[in-house]
Amino acid sequence: MGSYGMLARRAVLTDTPIMVQIQELIRGVKDCISLAQGVVHWQPPKQALEKVQDLVWEPVISRYGADEGLPELREALLKKLRQENNLHRSSVMVTAGANQAFVNIVLTLCDAGDSVVMFAPYYFNSYMSFQMTGVTDILVGPGDPKTLHPDADWLERTLKDTKPTPKLVTVVNPGNPSGTYIPEPLLQRISDLCKDAGCWLVVDNTYEYFMYDGRKHVCVEGDHIVNLFSFSKAYGMMGWRVGYIAFPSEVEGLSAQLLKVQDNIPICASIISQRLALHSLEMGPEWVTDRVKDLVKNKELLLEALSPLGKDAVKGGEGAIYLWAKLPDKFSEDFKVVSWLARKHGVVLIPGSSSGCPGYIRISFGGLIEDQCRTASQRLKRGLEELVNGGMVV
Ligand SMILES: Cc1ncc(COP(=O)(O)O)c(C=O)c1O
Repeated sequence: MGSYGMLARRAVLTDTPIMVQIQELIRGVKDCISLAQGVVHWQPPKQALEKVQDLVWEPVISRYGADEGLPELREALLKKLRQENNLHRSSVMVTAGANQAFVNIVLTLCDAGDSVVMFAPYYFNSYMSFQMTGVTDILVGPGDPKTLHPDADWLERTLKDTKPTPKLVTVVNPGNPSGTYIPEPLLQRISDLCKDAGCWLVVDNTYEYFMYDGRKHVCVEGDHIVNLFSFSKAYGMMGWRVGYIAFPSEVEGLSAQLLKVQDNIPICASIISQRLALHSLEMGPEWVTDRVKDLVKNKELLLEALSPLGKDAVKGGEGAIYLWAKLPDKFSEDFKVVSWLARKHGVVLIPGSSSGCPGYIRISFGGLIEDQCRTASQRLKRGLEELVNGGMVV
């Protein structure tokens, strides 16, 4: 033993999770504030937590449940999908979070050796899900330099020219790490291109409620589209692990194959978590959007903190919980900058290289209450001023 030769190449050749690297980086750094992980600062709805707190004694909580999810939760989700997302021809599978939903989908739709399409900057966990399942031909398309929107002209050419045709295209909307929102006409065009080419479109809607400046989140539906959702950020349920897949009901065999994957990974999402999800859903989307509104202040504080990088360097913030910024040209080694900011200035971010874009940084504004965010912003601003003016002086 003791040799990499004994390990699966699929695993060895998969990127190391950036959050694990960040945890290692800040271990031992005293008083480091995190603007790194994509989290929210709130807890699940109090009323929902109160409803589940006595459930631990009920025997059904400790048993396995239906693979596809509790019937009452699925029913509530189908209603929500119809009313809020305008999805009328979708079936639902409840998963242990949206990340597991994505893995289920990759295992159900892709074979090792297939090619797939993502856009830079991409969501690192989706990239890793492809890598670790042997889907290593990952075509990464450009984003528009100004808006970061996926380049649909590039997609059109790529779907036409790549043989065999890529199996799947995936986007996150609004984006992680970009924080930008793909407007409906563009999303529709991407969907049409996928349909014409005969490939799947997977849209990750984890941040559907995290929209700013009056924008409204929209989903697209079709027999070639899978939509993913999560309870983690919306309802502050990161650790409860609940997400779901909305997949086209009419595609023959899709549900049966999905169940095979589900039965071999979680069997079912945690039953008590599904009950909490159901009661959280009863609070209505306003419960979430009320909290999202308060994040605007955090975003403003961090935009101000990023000002030393120059106005054009900063993008995103239309949706989700992220800002995305370009470091000055000479700092393409973004992990070094992130390490320096953590050690010297007590604030930690995500390097853009983990999303396929070296020389950038991702800043998360969801995890801190305003006071903490103010402190983090002051540290970040001081750090960036020093970086721009004098470099990484230790
Ligand atoms: C785009 C996106 N998808 C999925 C996830 C993971 O969500 P979950 O906790 O539901 O697995 C995240 C979390 O950061 C995310 O940003």
